[in-house]
Amino acid sequence: MKAKTSWLHQKLNVSGTGGLNWHLRALRSRRLWAPTSEHIGNALNLWRPQSQELLLIGPSAGWMLPTAWLARFRIIHAFDLDALAAPLFHQRHGRRLKGIGTQVVHHRMDAIAELPHLLSQHPHAALWFDNVLGQLRYVHRDEVELAEQLKRIRSQLKHRSWGSVHDWLSGAVQSPPPIQSVGCHWVHLNDQGLKVCRADGTNVRTSDEIQRLLASVHANGVWQDHGCQEMFPLNTRRCWIPWSFSAQHWHWLELGWVNA
Ligand SMILES: C[S@@+](CC[C@H](N)C(=O)[O-])C[C@H]1O[C@@H](n2cnc3c(N)ncnc32)[C@H](O)[C@@H]1O
Repeated sequence: MKAKTSWLHQKLNVSGTGGLNWHLRALRSRRLWAPTSEHIGNALNLWRPQSQELLLIGPSAGWMLPTAWLARFRIIHAFDLDALAAPLFHQRHGRRLKGIGTQVVHHRMDAIAELPHLLSQHPHAALWFDNVLGQLRYVHRDEVELAEQLKRIRSQLKHRSWGSVHDWLSGAVQSPPPIQSVGCHWVHLNDQGLKVCRADGTNVRTSDEIQRLLASVHANGVWQDHGCQEMFPLNTRRCWIPWSFSAQHWHWLELGWVNA
């Protein structure tokens, strides 16, 4: 009985961040998530890695990825722990990608643990971490362990073109404004991350900017920090994107990239 329950739990959640639960939520939330997917698509269109090969980490069915962006690559290796990711990705993007001539190869595996191996197998590929790094905080016992793993990943990615969208902050909201009125913010962090340089060139204290972002979505109570703030090197241009995950629970995502 216990084995059956844990099999079911695994199918529903897949390491707590994917699985059937994720697919059902993504399907139900398509309209709610649409403005966020649009921000992600617009930002991705600005990233022009040289490589025609992409290693896509944790895409699930590619719920928030535009097919047109995926079509820029000649070959995509998609890595996910979830057995449902490949057939649903195929249904969502596969036919159009095939028509355009983009080949997609699915791999069911732990791409974070196997990252060094993947990097040496695909020495010229660009990498996109698709809302997966922010979930590593659920894998680790404490913040120190998490910070060490993110630092390790960052150093493994040295000299590679890579990008990520990940959970940055998340928590409860009370009577939030319509998400269309919130907008996303292009910034870079300087001065050891203590200052945010906004797109208009003005500098503000990072802590003040975070308070402003939280206030803008009517954050309520204590929000979770997903520990990814140092994932990108200082001065990397990044986009902070609001995400109405559900009516009462919102995220600020962080999106950016590093070119080799
Ligand atoms: C929060 S979901 C996001 C899914 C997808 N990017 C989207 O936007 O719909 C995280 C995904 O990463 C996958 N995942 C988590 N850890 C992983 C790992 N170590 N290697 C490969 N995939 C992983 C999960 O199975 C899940 O599909």
